[in-house]
Amino acid sequence: MASKLLRQSRLRALCCSHIRSTRFCNTTRATYAFLKFRPFSDASSSPSPEKPLSHCNTKTNTVMERGSTSTSTTPPNPSSLKEPELAKFASIAETWWDSEGPFKPLHVMNPTRLAFIRSVLCRHFRKDPNSARPFEGLKIVDVGCGGGLLSEPLARMGATVTGVDAVEKNIRIARLHADLDPVTSTIEYCCTTAEKLVEEERNFDAVISLEVIEHVADPAEFCNSLAALTVPDGATVISTINRSMRAYATAIVAAEYLLHWLPKGTHQWSSFLTPEELVLIIQRASITVREMAGFAYNPVTGRWSLSDDISVNFISFGTKNSQ
Ligand SMILES: C[S@@+](CC[C@H](N)C(=O)[O-])C[C@H]1O[C@@H](n2cnc3c(N)ncnc32)[C@H](O)[C@@H]1O
Repeated sequence: MASKLLRQSRLRALCCSHIRSTRFCNTTRATYAFLKFRPFSDASSSPSPEKPLSHCNTKTNTVMERGSTSTSTTPPNPSSLKEPELAKFASIAETWWDSEGPFKPLHVMNPTRLAFIRSVLCRHFRKDPNSARPFEGLKIVDVGCGGGLLSEPLARMGATVTGVDAVEKNIRIARLHADLDPVTSTIEYCCTTAEKLVEEERNFDAVISLEVIEHVADPAEFCNSLAALTVPDGATVISTINRSMRAYATAIVAAEYLLHWLPKGTHQWSSFLTPEELVLIIQRASITVREMAGFAYNPVTGRWSLSDDISVNFISFGTKNSQ
């Protein structure tokens, strides 16, 4: 019981380190000295089929075509793949860039999650958050990139971006969309998995995987792969949904069945991780979690903002331990 309270207090401290300037945190701020206060800074098509599917050197390992229910080839280490999950994404891949379609929640959350990423990466890598291209010089991989909703703004912020996804249709859509703009056409998209990139000994200054871990077969193995892709003292950013009753009521019952924001069956409550579980598996993967924030939805404005309420959607930033 005492250790549970301690863990909860520590999580609260992780959140407070990010949202410290807001009204949310008061009692636990000083609990963990290693979480230093750093003020939060707000961040604010026609296809070209002649382009190859991917500029990635990686051989396409997993081919999930729309409507199919199985992968056509077996990747060397399939530990993160959950085929029914991939089939769901393959079936709606064409709608990635429809901001009113099934991925509307990701479109609406994007500015808020980018604000978190800009804030933590600029502080960690000592970049100017007010620069138009603060991520210049950083090599970032977006694991489970889908149609590239996150990869594209990261590239616009100056990063050298690799986007990988296990569903080939997603990569095809991402490639076509990115090629519409010379800045985003530099993104390297690969139909592959994190574990395959590890086998190829790729590594990155920052490894980002948003809303993916709840769809993989083995979250701990997946985190090991994310950690292996991160250079020592590099950054790892992961977002997911808490396995809480509140998340069941809002992220599943309301979002899928009442408001129809997401197709029914998008999420399995049992696949969600609590923040404590995520911290534990990340730490076991040699990543120290530095900050965590929740996402709060305002039904009046229809907008999301960062908060210290991690009871539903949350995001964590950690750094890879130097051996
Ligand atoms: C909810 S979407 C999130 C997309 C993107 N990260 C975003 O937030 O905009 C989850 C994505 O993860 C991909 N995915 C699921 N399991 C994966 C795995 N083991 N390796 C790579 N991609 C995976 C799916 O194909 C899907 O595109």
